[in-house]
Parts: sequence; structure tokens; C-alpha cells
Amino acid sequence: MKNNLEIIEAATVARENAHAPFSRFKVGAALLTTGNEIITGCNVENASYGLTMCAERVAIFKAISENKKEFVKICVVADTDALTPPCGACRQIIWEFCGDVEVLMANLDGETETFQISELLPKAFDAGFLDAK
Ligand code: THU
Repeated sequence: MKNNLEIIEAATVARENAHAPFSRFKVGAALLTTGNEIITGCNVENASYGLTMCAERVAIFKAISENKKEFVKICVVADTDALTPPCGACRQIIWEFCGDVEVLMANLDGETETFQISELLPKAFDAGFLDAK
């Protein structure tokens, strides 16, 4: 399996493609599949700010569009001292498509921290509730 350094490197390279002219906050993401493939994403902003798509969701939607559906971990890289976690919307999407995966956060200084998505999104709402009644 690809190691964390390789995954962080992939997210760091993807981060360079960030389209972030409004926030100037570049984010890269890398998703590791159970098939040991890495699928990357970067944030893509829009002049209509609310249409902005985060790096994590770009990576996940790319993967789904390529019929890759099983994941081991997702990595998020940004240039911050306090490591950047996925936003609330991304946590929901990660839970929905990846299950209880590892979330690896890293910055450009090589600092890292790892959580399970279930720690970042406790008591998640998901499809299970839709079958409740
Ligand atoms: N952003 C991400 O891409 N991922 C995160 O985990 C946090 C926020 C983006 C959205 C927006 O383009 C910029 O960072 C500032 O919020």
C-alpha cells in the first residue's frame, strides 16, 4: 500500500492546481483506494462564492465518476500551522462515500495528524436513517 509520504506528496502536487483567486487558500486532497490508487483533487472557487468546491469533494467525485468506490484514507494538505481539517460539508460527503476512513491532515512543513472521520463527524446522518420508518 502507498505510504503516507506518497499520499501527502500527491495531495501537495494537486494543491498547486487549486483555483483559489478569491480566498487565495490553496488546498490539495488525495484519496487512497483499496486498489492502491491515488485520486487527487484541489479546491475550485467561483466568483459566485457559494459554488466553490472543496478539494476533498473534487477528489471523491472524481473517484466515483471513475467507478472507484472503496477507500482507505483521504489526505488534506494546506499551508497552515494548525492543520486544516475537512469542512462540515466535506465530512458529510466523506462519511457517505468512504465510510469510517482515516483522515490524514498535513501542512507544507511535513506536520501530520490523523483522525477517523467518525471522530470528526460523530452521530452522522446517513442513508440508514432513511430506512427507519
Ligand atoms: N477548502 C477546501 O478545499 N478544503 C478544506 O478542507 C477547507 C476549505 C477550500 C474552500 C475554499 O476554496 C477555500 O478553501 C477557503 O475556504
